[in-house]
Amino acid sequence: MADTITKNKVGFDIEKVRKEFPLLSREMNGKPLVFLDSAASSQKPQVLLDSIEHYYKHLHSNVHRGVYQLSQEATNAHEHGRKQIQQFINAASDKEIIFVRGTTEGINLVASSYGRKFLKEGDEVLVSAMEHHSNIVPWQLACEQAGAHLKVIPINDKGELLMDELDELLTERTKIVSLVHVSNALGTINPVKEVIAKAHAKGIPVLVDGAQAIPHMKIDVQELDADFYVFSGHKMFGPTGIGILYGKEKWLNEMPPYHGGGEMIKTVTFEKTTYNELPFKFEAGTPDIEGSIGIGVAAEYIQQIGQEAIAQYEHELLEYATAQLSQIEGIRFVGTADNKASVISFLIDGTHPYDVGTILDKLGIAVRTGHHCTQPLMDRFDIPGTVRASFAFYNNKEDIDRLVEGVKKAASMLR
Ligand code: ALA
Repeated sequence: MADTITKNKVGFDIEKVRKEFPLLSREMNGKPLVFLDSAASSQKPQVLLDSIEHYYKHLHSNVHRGVYQLSQEATNAHEHGRKQIQQFINAASDKEIIFVRGTTEGINLVASSYGRKFLKEGDEVLVSAMEHHSNIVPWQLACEQAGAHLKVIPINDKGELLMDELDELLTERTKIVSLVHVSNALGTINPVKEVIAKAHAKGIPVLVDGAQAIPHMKIDVQELDADFYVFSGHKMFGPTGIGILYGKEKWLNEMPPYHGGGEMIKTVTFEKTTYNELPFKFEAGTPDIEGSIGIGVAAEYIQQIGQEAIAQYEHELLEYATAQLSQIEGIRFVGTADNKASVISFLIDGTHPYDVGTILDKLGIAVRTGHHCTQPLMDRFDIPGTVRASFAFYNNKEDIDRLVEGVKKAASMLR
């Protein structure tokens, strides 16, 4: 395994790719930085930084508003970002690509707007036991408003959905299923296509939280047949502050606006407002133009490296890291699903995750510790939190070796 990684037979030059991310050459606490927190936010390639600088130096003006040439050019760049994302996830139309601030806002938009239109007293919304708070709380708010109930698909001890239970939970009361594609805390890759097929067989739409899936695998929303698919720019090597809500046109047309303001209107009088067409109906206010350009550039960058090559390489890193960490006495992995993306959550007997994370930081290794915004999931495993190492395609075997050495050192210091 180590040889495979070292020889890099995966179709892209890892060392060249690493050099494209300026921040990876930083030192941290006197050591070369090992960045293993890409599930929280990924680092940025030079091509993205260049595109943002180019935008502010040569294109900046407001979009969809000016008759003047500069505004037309900014509008073209902004709408080009939308088209790049349409192509990236194979959406049928660019009207189905709504720019939002991130995954959290995308889910809040659907929960609020779909909820107001379709949720009634006694209805049910179905989520899973491994959801991020951002795919729980918006639905609780929507349920509270409608008098509806939140139901939960349970998981097994490996962190996999109990699909048999799903069949029981999909009833005539279920109005939507909202499910994470890849768990940020466990790494589990959920069988979303199967879940969608089961839900659709009963006429129930499905929202997929793709925040952790989009940097790691090819997403084809038409192939999945997802009704909504939501993700963030900053986890896919793009800027912070921009995200995507993909929604099927038929749902977005039926849903009321989320935010009111400029851009989302057709006509306004004090008596009545009519709304703009898609996608603008959901895009009130001046958009994040730097973000829409940047997320398009990030999508193109991922495609240039190759999504299959990325998935294969990260899988090799995951297997290597799991094998190496397994040799540490007293390690307990949380999330051992058969189908996993590049996230490893663990605990070391007799230590607190926070203390392990602090020692790793002193050694220049950045990991996340805590409940990872999944408190119900931590309760399911009866733990306060974990140490989480998450990888991207710019990580290498040396990063894993440094992590393993660091965890060994932390264990010996803390026990
Ligand atoms: N949701 C992000 C994470 O898992 C912030 O770290």
